[in-house]
Amino acid sequence: MKFQLLADKNLGKKHDCLVLGVCQKTGLLAEDIPLDDKLAALIKSLHKAGDIKGKAGETLLVPVADSSLTDRLLLVGIGESAPAEAKIWRKAVRAAAQALNKTPAKTALVALAQVPVKERDGEWAVTQLTMELGNAQYRYDQTKSKKAPPLSLKSVGIAAPTGSTKKSLDQALQAGQAISAGMSVTRELGNLPGNICTPSYLAQRATEMGLKYKSLKVKALTEKQMERLGMGSLLSVGHGSDQESRLIVIEHKGTTKANSRPYCLVGKGITFDTGGISLKPGLGMDEMKFDMCGAASVIGTMTAVAELNLPINVVAVIAAAENMPSGRATKPGDIVTSMSGKTIEILNTDAEGRLVLCDALTYAERFKPKTVIDVATLTGAAVATFGDVNTAMLSNHDPLADELFKIGQTTLDTVWRLPMSDEYQALLDSNFADIANIGGPKAGTITAACFLSRFTEKFQWAHLDIAGTAWFGGALKGATGRPVPLLVEYLRQQKA
Ligand code: BES
Ligand code: MN
Ligand code: ZN
Repeated sequence: MKFQLLADKNLGKKHDCLVLGVCQKTGLLAEDIPLDDKLAALIKSLHKAGDIKGKAGETLLVPVADSSLTDRLLLVGIGESAPAEAKIWRKAVRAAAQALNKTPAKTALVALAQVPVKERDGEWAVTQLTMELGNAQYRYDQTKSKKAPPLSLKSVGIAAPTGSTKKSLDQALQAGQAISAGMSVTRELGNLPGNICTPSYLAQRATEMGLKYKSLKVKALTEKQMERLGMGSLLSVGHGSDQESRLIVIEHKGTTKANSRPYCLVGKGITFDTGGISLKPGLGMDEMKFDMCGAASVIGTMTAVAELNLPINVVAVIAAAENMPSGRATKPGDIVTSMSGKTIEILNTDAEGRLVLCDALTYAERFKPKTVIDVATLTGAAVATFGDVNTAMLSNHDPLADELFKIGQTTLDTVWRLPMSDEYQALLDSNFADIANIGGPKAGTITAACFLSRFTEKFQWAHLDIAGTAWFGGALKGATGRPVPLLVEYLRQQKA
């Protein structure tokens, strides 16, 4: 889909659909749109009669005869009054995007980015609007025999908010497009079944990205190469599987500045998690195909980073493996040696994410990263704690945690920090190895992060447990694309 910012004269061009915000108290919110008197009167009467009250997310589609502006109006409720709360505004935008996709309109003018939003600027609105409209176009049909019919909407004009330069709004638009493109990549990889999306499939997709984008350099280490590096922990997870494990490394070079240290992203890529010998219960186990959503979000973020050609260096490290039971699988009580040299007693083979991540984190040391953010569907406890609302965050560096928290609040891709105080570390003590891979039944998200913290002492690090936020279950089952918006915004704000 094509997006374009429109201002002044260009707002008067004819579109198949005109999308306008209406709020409960004051009615229409479209000062900049050159509505003729007839249209303005029509909207006023629809609001007065209660056909559209203006409640957040309410929509009303109205055919329009002989207007020079549009063939139909899509009115969307923005809530009580402007400026709107950011979340209310987003709810309205999402509803508008869904409704717009149901119309036969090929072109639309969307006048929602200039609706004032509390504590947000025009750039924010343009990025969010573009991202949401792009996201609403995502369809999964790769493994269906009947493909989704192509959407009619081909071109969207976004009425430019006032008070910002054209250049900065253009950048905001491009960011929104890149983020939604990244989220589509993430969602597609997440949604693909485990028999297609294997570790080598992820490696292949990353390799293709390397061919598409000049700034990216991609390599995928084989099990042999990982053995030579001493990645005994990562490799132990794939022992029971017929699929080979992979360590995928994607490097974005966006600056020529000498010795510019990179920002590093690390993703958990368990392409299916049966639990291994510590087998999971059968009910709902299909959802463990989403256990590579950390990896998928890192790949999606790198897509956006490359699209925007961000002027920094970024390195992604993805630990990809399949966790299966078999005669060759790791058993509870087995002890492995990680790349760091630390030995690990594997008391539960279902706590496999941390086992692949610890070696990926040690591998990341070689890049002398400025910061490292790992992304993982790591613990059921994160789902119990935060549901699908907040990503759990744990960190060894307060400024980094504060920064991510704030960006979560502005992007609405929210994260909430949990403590990682010393008392929890003792839960990982083992009688037989340097560390155990589980900390018992209590504080599951925290003890998982404590495990990782033993491998992140050399850098500033944040851990994002996206077990609750990476996908929806139930009728809406599918990957969400989170936390791509958070990660892209974080990287956009960094300097070389
Ligand atoms: N991939 C799971 C975590 C998970 C579970 C994510 C449910 C989303 C929904 C992870 O590998 C796992 O199995 N974690 C265990 C750890 C436990 C054995 C210490 C868990 O959370 O139960
Ligand atoms: Mn598991
Ligand atoms: Zn897992």
